[in-house]
Amino acid sequence: MDARQALVDCARRAYAEGLFSGTSGNLSVRTDRGMLITPTSVRYETLSPEDIVHLRPDGAVLEGRFAPSSEWRMHAEIYARFPAVGAIVHTHSPHATAFAAANRSIPESLIEMRFFLGGEVPCAAYAPAGTREVGLRCCEVLSGRGGCLMANHGALAVGRDLGEALLRAEYIEDSAKITLLSMQLGGPVPLPSE
Ligand code: 13P
Repeated sequence: MDARQALVDCARRAYAEGLFSGTSGNLSVRTDRGMLITPTSVRYETLSPEDIVHLRPDGAVLEGRFAPSSEWRMHAEIYARFPAVGAIVHTHSPHATAFAAANRSIPESLIEMRFFLGGEVPCAAYAPAGTREVGLRCCEVLSGRGGCLMANHGALAVGRDLGEALLRAEYIEDSAKITLLSMQLGGPVPLPSE
């Protein structure tokens, strides 16, 4: 399938699942020349393949009628640091973002976290939105992980492709929701090592 259409389908699905509010969040896939990324501040209901922006890693627009996501620098930093990453899904999904607002990591207490996310979901240190530092802070905690939280901001999932990145974004939100519920029952128990 065309990569632009795949990005739109993925964005709409994530929006329908409640992983974004308003125009928050952004998604990208790596290309030979840089990345295809969602445009800034466009509502997901109206997003079409022609709205997707083809960007070079330095931010130069190769093709696109809209400005790219304001977080393109974060995406570029992650692609530069992790060659195996082929897609990135950044959400403001509510339960995961509650942990990010509290600057707390999601502790590893569920089997899916180990299989799909590489263990706990660490919280990257705060950096102002739209800066290269957002990406640098995420890179500090992403090694061996399927994603991370971004302090006072949201959540981020990476994958070899868009399908894997979306699945991880879904599991990050699910893990956060279940962890918050288990906190009302005395707190989650760490997942045993074997
Ligand atoms: P964009 O609309 O520019 O992608 O920004 C949304 C967002 O979530 C910023 O972190």
